Amino acid sequence: MTHRSWMRSEGFTTEVFDGRPVIGIATTWSELAPCNVHLHRVAESVKRGVWQAGGFPLEFPAMALGETLLRPTAMLYRNLLAMEAEELFRANPLDGVVLLSGCDKTTPGLLMAAASVDLPAVMVTGGPKLNGKYQGTDVGSGTAVWRWEEDLLAGRMTQEECFFAEGCMSRSDGHCMTMGTASTMASVAEALGMQLPYSAAWPAVDARRYETAQRAGQVIVDLVNSDLSPSKIMTRQAFENAIRVNAAIGGSTNAVIHLLAIAGRLGVPLSLDDFDALAADVPTLVNLQPSGQYLMEDFCYAGGLPAVMRELGGMLHGDAITVTGRTVAENVADAPCWNRDVIHAMDAPFQPPGTGTAVLRGNLAPDGAVLKQSAASPHLLKHRGRALVFDSPEAYHAVVADPDLDADENTVLVIRYCGPKGYPGMPEVSNVPLPKKLLNRDVRDMVRICDGRMSGTAYGTVVLHVTPEAAAGGPLALVRTGDWITLDVPSRALTLEVPDEELARRRAEWTAPPPAAVRGWTRLYTDHVLQADTGADLDFLIGASGHEVPRDSH
Ligand code: FES
Repeated sequence: MTHRSWMRSEGFTTEVFDGRPVIGIATTWSELAPCNVHLHRVAESVKRGVWQAGGFPLEFPAMALGETLLRPTAMLYRNLLAMEAEELFRANPLDGVVLLSGCDKTTPGLLMAAASVDLPAVMVTGGPKLNGKYQGTDVGSGTAVWRWEEDLLAGRMTQEECFFAEGCMSRSDGHCMTMGTASTMASVAEALGMQLPYSAAWPAVDARRYETAQRAGQVIVDLVNSDLSPSKIMTRQAFENAIRVNAAIGGSTNAVIHLLAIAGRLGVPLSLDDFDALAADVPTLVNLQPSGQYLMEDFCYAGGLPAVMRELGGMLHGDAITVTGRTVAENVADAPCWNRDVIHAMDAPFQPPGTGTAVLRGNLAPDGAVLKQSAASPHLLKHRGRALVFDSPEAYHAVVADPDLDADENTVLVIRYCGPKGYPGMPEVSNVPLPKKLLNRDVRDMVRICDGRMSGTAYGTVVLHVTPEAAAGGPLALVRTGDWITLDVPSRALTLEVPDEELARRRAEWTAPPPAAVRGWTRLYTDHVLQADTGADLDFLIGASGHEVPRDSH
């Protein structure tokens, strides 16, 4: 009676208590997360589908992580969303959940939660914005910002032009419409089998986004009835599919960290080296910014992710099961491609195999670092230069316009203390703009090395996720301005040309920075966060606890 009576205060009739499955709709809607601001409307469509299929839908909020507003970085809170959502999924009497996400961290955060609880779940991402349009050309979220920032710094654009342009870039609901992290993770969720085919690409304002959401509401009831839970879908095969798809779409390096974290929740063995090995023979098929030309709206009209997955054919595990109850091969068997300039064929790829994420190792990154080859400058993939070291991005920004800065195009910019513990939260600061004096000389790229991340919308020859990070005592902390550094991407090597004895001497002098916080979430996070090479989850959140509550208080 307690359960029923209190629910009836919401105005439900008694028929909802006839034994139908209770479907939670976890929404990361918030006006503080502009990319997710339409999700309450998406939820209404999901509810229609749940009712249609004989379920009882109940929408509830989960922490909304807005990439652009959260400080110091939304990544600091991905694990908090995962932890909050996990407990909500388990503590409430739910039979299945629909995960509504959009902005970068909301997709992996909810997938991590669903993995640990292992309740039947289906994801519905909110979809990308319409293409940005400025002065007759398409402009992509994020990617255009980096370019305009440099143009403003170099005097090629006025502040007024920037103000006008920012409105042209963000002209509809939805997440970033480049193949940034949000589009990447939406595609990865689809490749994993956790969201319906075509879900990643429908624009946020396209009516088919809402049709898909309604369909997802029907599907989740089927998943409950057939007990097809995330651990049966997100298998090692599914992760291999996702890694290969990420290479084919020219996806974000952030997918590396997020997939490792999701796999960690499921006990699926996955390592950093898998990303290099599995992507090595996969060509980039999708011609989208930041690596290419087009945007997600074009990707949708060209056929979306099913067209890519069909093209990959035997490179994927076609028998992997998905939320449709059908296999990957069945889902994409008839998927057409309508534009070969946007989605290339395997025999005429956009970029050849081996241009995906490279995993680098060496005495500067003993546990690994990553570089997105498709976003890098080919002439810098083998490079030797002297380090110019900064202990924070802010320290670098303070001198970026200095005409006397001791840097040229061969300099290797080192930005450190930006890792999970260091900043804290591993922000997307690694692709710092080039020094103004070099921009004025029309230098457009330099080697940058950082223990932080890079936005999926960004480009450049940037070595990311250097592990162990400087704040954890990694060798990055020992680099000094003037040291020679060699980057050799073909050999997967990142070398600090300083003798071991000298490094040992420097290590003896090094002291760890004080913790970023003495209390609260940041304290818990910095005390327990793991390094990037295993997904930067918290050590006590690894693994699953299932969906049974330990003890029933009623
Ligand atoms: Fe939300 Fe890019 S800022 S997806």
